[in-house]
Amino acid sequence: MSSPTKDTRAHSDETDDPIPRIRLLSRRPALSPALDRRDLLKLLAAAPLAAHLAAHLAAPTPAAAAAARPALAAPGIVKPLPPELFTIRGTNAETNFTALRSTGLHTPADHFFVRNHTSTPVLSESDWKLTVWGSGLGGRRPVEFSYGHLRSLPSITRTAVVECAGNGRNFYATQQGETVTGTPWTLGGIGAARWRGVRLRDVLRHAGISSSAVDVMPRGLDDEFISNGVNHGRVRRPLPVGKALDDVILAYEMNGEPLPYDHGYPVRVIVPSWIGLASVKWLGDIEVSETPLSSPWTTEFYRFFGAAYPPGGSAPITRQTIKSALELPLGASLAAGVGHRLTGRAWSAKAPVSHVEISTDGGAHWHRARLCDTPRRDGWVRWTAHWHPRRTGPAELLARTTDRAGNTQPERTVHNTQGYLFDAVVRHPVMVV
Ligand code: MTE
Repeated sequence: MSSPTKDTRAHSDETDDPIPRIRLLSRRPALSPALDRRDLLKLLAAAPLAAHLAAHLAAPTPAAAAAARPALAAPGIVKPLPPELFTIRGTNAETNFTALRSTGLHTPADHFFVRNHTSTPVLSESDWKLTVWGSGLGGRRPVEFSYGHLRSLPSITRTAVVECAGNGRNFYATQQGETVTGTPWTLGGIGAARWRGVRLRDVLRHAGISSSAVDVMPRGLDDEFISNGVNHGRVRRPLPVGKALDDVILAYEMNGEPLPYDHGYPVRVIVPSWIGLASVKWLGDIEVSETPLSSPWTTEFYRFFGAAYPPGGSAPITRQTIKSALELPLGASLAAGVGHRLTGRAWSAKAPVSHVEISTDGGAHWHRARLCDTPRRDGWVRWTAHWHPRRTGPAELLARTTDRAGNTQPERTVHNTQGYLFDAVVRHPVMVV
């Protein structure tokens, strides 16, 4: 196959001296698709003055410029990461759940969490192409789609959450006293957006998928992922053909705008109800195969290992789980003797939410929260509950979601060593003062 290429125009200007390069950049109004993010980071490492300039040149507005410094704390993320919206976790940025309080059902792109294995590649739609290839095309040659061709196909717009398989991982340690590996997300490794794009089904049919195809593997254009000295290659993970032909889309818009760089520009996969990893960003190619495919993301990562699972681990994880979260900082202080409107969100990847129960006394008594939205598949609902604490001192608030298929958040999640799919009720500590 001819492998899809990144925008390499920035390299043609490359020089060892960062200052002339910065002058070149200064002609650009905002971070340009022609600027390779890695080059920018190289410059930042090379010269403090250049770093200062580049941070400002890369920011599109004065407000964004003010927030450019925190962005440097999450290597490889392009958008500003103001500390009131995000907590930086290595190459990732977790949305502070409290910051969602002022947002609607759809998470604005500037609030949306970022999960990057490496760093955001800054691609250009004019150079971008998608290659569909493999034995599952019934002997046909690879088929290429330009950005324009993809946009000319019938489009679909739908709401879906993207939620990291490790969302809530932190609570294995803090609530269950268990050791797990991986990014210690609290509950902000999730966002909901309105995605517009083409059905993967339409693209596969255009490419001539054969009836003997069994697996379809999208792959990203970001750098190869190297962990503990092992190169796992580019992010990729097979989808069974049944799911690929069902509700998967190749999205080019998020909340009515072109995808932001960090969220997969120009085109990403959206796999509703599945773990976020399946929603491959910066899509470059799709292998269609008539034999089962695998990748390190189905063999080593994103399956359950541990005492409760077979020695080789569980089957690869597919669907997300059920959760709820308060839009309140962990450890928040609340005044005694006055009424508080608690707010939060509830979601389940298995069925629409049925109801949410709240306990303000550590789980002894429960009452129903009011749902503010009509529950739908693949989305979340906002809820509110009233609390009038009388006594001062520490308290625990709990929110418990039940979905229409009868799934309810348990008290504990069965341990797995990589801390995936935490679904237990979170005991949210607060201080009544
Ligand atoms: N796709 C590529 N190419 N590279 C990545 O690092 N991360 C995955 C997925 N797609 C990733 C990727 C993971 S683990 C998650 S949870 C989602 O993207 C996060 O999407 P977001 O950064 O737009 O929130």
